[in-house]
Amino acid sequence: MAAVPGSFALTSDPLLAGDAATLLNDGDFATVRQLIADYAGIKLTLQKRNMVYNRLLRRLRTRRVGNFGEYLELVQREGSDEREAFVNALTTNLTAFFREPHHFELLHEHAQRRAQERGAPLRCWSSACSTGEEAWSIAMVLREAGCAGEVLGTDIDTEVLATAQAAIYRMERTTSLPPERLRRHFLRGAGSNEGLVTVRSELRSLVRFGQLNLQSPVWPAQQRYDVIFCRNVVIYFDREFQKKLLARFADLLVPGGLLMVGHSESFPAAHPGFRSCGRTAYERT
Ligand SMILES: C[S@@+](CC[C@H](N)C(=O)[O-])C[C@H]1O[C@@H](n2cnc3c(N)ncnc32)[C@H](O)[C@@H]1O
Repeated sequence: MAAVPGSFALTSDPLLAGDAATLLNDGDFATVRQLIADYAGIKLTLQKRNMVYNRLLRRLRTRRVGNFGEYLELVQREGSDEREAFVNALTTNLTAFFREPHHFELLHEHAQRRAQERGAPLRCWSSACSTGEEAWSIAMVLREAGCAGEVLGTDIDTEVLATAQAAIYRMERTTSLPPERLRRHFLRGAGSNEGLVTVRSELRSLVRFGQLNLQSPVWPAQQRYDVIFCRNVVIYFDREFQKKLLARFADLLVPGGLLMVGHSESFPAAHPGFRSCGRTAYERT
């Protein structure tokens, strides 16, 4: 199409030309909110409309689908291979090594006590582990405390889990770690891996990752846990789901076990089976 001087040529791609209001209509947005609540328990607020538009637009392009209505039909089709990508696109995965460091100080004390008592290996679960930094931070603390243990990292999002499993990070992500910790637990990449770090095999042997939707009725845990991290994820869930989750964590923690939640999540405070034992940290009574 020839452009008229002084004006803008219309693109032939309607997705490039539109905006959230015109392309992701009210009905489509309502369907997105319903589907992500059904699949992952995530309650998207009305303010998330632009975020939804931007994130799903990439999926429309990848799948070469012309509009949101068609895309959402694809997601809902029986046995759809797009459902996983839809969920991955709508999760928020912000994380960091030793995020909210007070939890790791508490964990260190707990692990040291267990090591001194020569007790059983400390079983830890990072239940919304995103790209793995939380699980690796737990493993670093176990090693530093001289405590035997194992760490399970799970998340609903298969894309972030692939990063967690690969355990390769850009060096910038580790700048908050003291040099001693970095040397002890990581290897620096060289040549084509310049600028990257990976965790050492001693740490790898403590951690395994797997996909788990916290909403699913069956969790694969065979034994109880000593420590559960469930941080910065229940803010996306409604009260009913939070309550159910808490009851399940209470069943799954040993007496004296620890539950760590995110900085704006005080939901265990109301449960009779937990008592506060630090900032956003709770002990199973
Ligand atoms: C903001 S990140 C928090 C990561 C880490 N816990 C932290 O605090 O740094 C939230 C994570 O929860 C995961 N998530 C969301 N809904 C979930 C569900 N129903 N089951 C399991 N994980 C879920 C997301 O995929 C995302 O990786």
